[in-house]
Amino acid sequence: MILASFLALATYVAAAPLDARATTCVVSSYAGFASCASSTSIHIQGPITVPANSVIDWSGLKSGTQILLSGTVTFTKGTLKESGPKLITVGGSGITFKGDSSNPGILDGQGASYWDGKGSNGGVPKPKFFRVETTGTSVFSNFKILNAPVQAFSIGGSGTTIDNVKVDNSAGDSLGHNTDAFDVSANSIIIQNSWVHNQDDCLAVNSANGVHFLNNICIGGHGISIGSVASGSVVENVTVKNCTVQSSTFGPRIKTDYGATSGSVSSITYQDITLIDISSMGIVVRQDYENGSPKGTAVSKMPITGVTMTNIHGTVTSGADSVFILCATGECTGFNWSEINITPKKTSCSGVTPTGC
Ligand SMILES: *[C@@H]1O[C@H](CO)[C@@H](O)[C@H](O)[C@H]1NC(C)=O
Ligand SMILES: *[C@@H]1O[C@H](CO)[C@@H](O)[C@H](O)[C@H]1NC(C)=O
Ligand SMILES: *[C@@H]1O[C@H](CO)[C@@H](O)[C@H](O)[C@H]1NC(C)=O
Repeated sequence: MILASFLALATYVAAAPLDARATTCVVSSYAGFASCASSTSIHIQGPITVPANSVIDWSGLKSGTQILLSGTVTFTKGTLKESGPKLITVGGSGITFKGDSSNPGILDGQGASYWDGKGSNGGVPKPKFFRVETTGTSVFSNFKILNAPVQAFSIGGSGTTIDNVKVDNSAGDSLGHNTDAFDVSANSIIIQNSWVHNQDDCLAVNSANGVHFLNNICIGGHGISIGSVASGSVVENVTVKNCTVQSSTFGPRIKTDYGATSGSVSSITYQDITLIDISSMGIVVRQDYENGSPKGTAVSKMPITGVTMTNIHGTVTSGADSVFILCATGECTGFNWSEINITPKKTSCSGVTPTGC
């Protein structure tokens, strides 16, 4: 008898976890973001307008919080800086942030009201968009970032999956700059099944252990990048698989800072990558970045080891390099490249000689 009711209770607890019994807190105006911040079940019901110079600070959500985004949240143009708070910050453990499939979730950054062709390098101040600092097993899926003023996602924390997200900055092709889609300084991150049209890196990994970038389409930007990796930083275990890079300046790209004295880049794999109309360099590895620009001479004590490139194929535009490598002598090792078929072929490689050069 006692055992039977104990089992019944255990079943009840397993079938109805606390979160499912929580009342859903509905956000239908800007004030709702603060008043729902301590709920574990939140439904954002757009349209909602976030006032100028205001942000959504959900950096301290309760463990296991589930968020559903329906409709559009529009962030009014203000004067927040790139170094200041992001327009939205989400942090906590085991967080789910999901767009509604029947009423598409859109976060609209009003990028066009900021874009001045200067990006991060001056002009009007521009805030970064979406700071992810979740841990545990967290998932962000099925929504769109529209018109980011500058960088779209800044990802920290660990254990987060981003799935089926769109970063649509296609309207910024003439004036939007530095609109990186996914900047990653984090561990164990998966970014998959996503679509990006922007004006800077599709992915930029600056320090990380374990990044999987799978089944993504990147249009209009600067390619799928590791770096620029700064002296002292470590990037390890990055896999990029089954992605298309189109109408971009670069495809796969690894860049480290000129004169780096410590740190490392290791175990990097790019596999099954399609390049379409790459305008500057198809595949790039270089150790000469200084203040965000290539210097033309590689000096480094930051080894790049274990770079596998398999089945990288497609086209660069006339005059572009299909493969470009500039390594300091002895600092690039364990390069295992096969099935590199980028046309027209034009290569420039120094410091290391993988297949494909
Ligand atoms: C490769 O990625 C594309 C999206 O770019 C997707 O449609 C396709 O299903 C993926 N293939 C595999 C084998 O996952
Ligand atoms: C990198 O990945 C390999 C293979 O999955 C794993 O053995 C290694 O521990 C990872 N590196 C670190 C520092 O976790
Ligand atoms: C080189 O890469 C290929 C394809 O991924 C793999 O089969 C092979 O084992 C690798 N060789 C070495 C020496 O790592």
